[in-house]
Amino acid sequence: MRRFVVIGTRATASPDFLLIDLPGTSGRLDVLLRCVRAAFLVSHGLRRDTVVYLVLLGGPAAPRSLRIDGASVRFLRPDERSLAVLAQKALAAPCEGDGFVTVKPGVAVAAGGLEAVLDDVGPGASYVLDEGGADLRETPVELADPVFFIGDHLGFGEENRRRIDARPAVAISVGPMSLHADDVVTLVSNELDRRTLGVAARSTR
Ligand SMILES: C[S@@+](CC[C@H](N)C(=O)[O-])C[C@H]1O[C@@H](n2cnc3c(N)ncnc32)[C@H](O)[C@@H]1O
Repeated sequence: MRRFVVIGTRATASPDFLLIDLPGTSGRLDVLLRCVRAAFLVSHGLRRDTVVYLVLLGGPAAPRSLRIDGASVRFLRPDERSLAVLAQKALAAPCEGDGFVTVKPGVAVAAGGLEAVLDDVGPGASYVLDEGGADLRETPVELADPVFFIGDHLGFGEENRRRIDARPAVAISVGPMSLHADDVVTLVSNELDRRTLGVAARSTR
């Protein structure tokens, strides 16, 4: 299983954002939703071996976190609007108590931020995506249940980064340019595919 944890330093933890102006009204939840698309959706399919956590640290309802599990999620579509509707419905559901509460198949919400996610993830090989980290292509990665932490347009925030580093987590870079978070998810997924499946093209038919 692959797990991606995306930190939304300002991403809204409440459902009251506008679908017609997602970037302007949601604390850049759009950045996180593009990571969801990149992590799960492949040509004509969905990666069932992937789990994505979105840590929502913006607005008065924060902190809250969303968990999307590829093994059981249904009707995950590639367009940002559909993913925003999914997030909006999930955030509208009551969410109290400890841990993640399933609000629809494959989608769960927790009333907590990074700590709630770290509790759910448990121990395991961890990697923090960092422009200054070691080259992913030259870094051994534990292929069984790795966890990857990714920042948003503002990075991680100092305290979150400290907690991630304390797991501990290996800092890895996907290349010399600072990229959009969803492109980083794609590159990490591709590298894991190459290491687990090989580089030869596979027919989907
Ligand atoms: C747009 S970047 C954030 C840039 C932001 N100005 C900062 O200071 O972190 C979003 C996230 O993508 C990841 N990222 C971007 N480029 C990367 C690279 N070349 N290697 C590894 N991670 C990268 C990092 O996790 C980063 O926090």
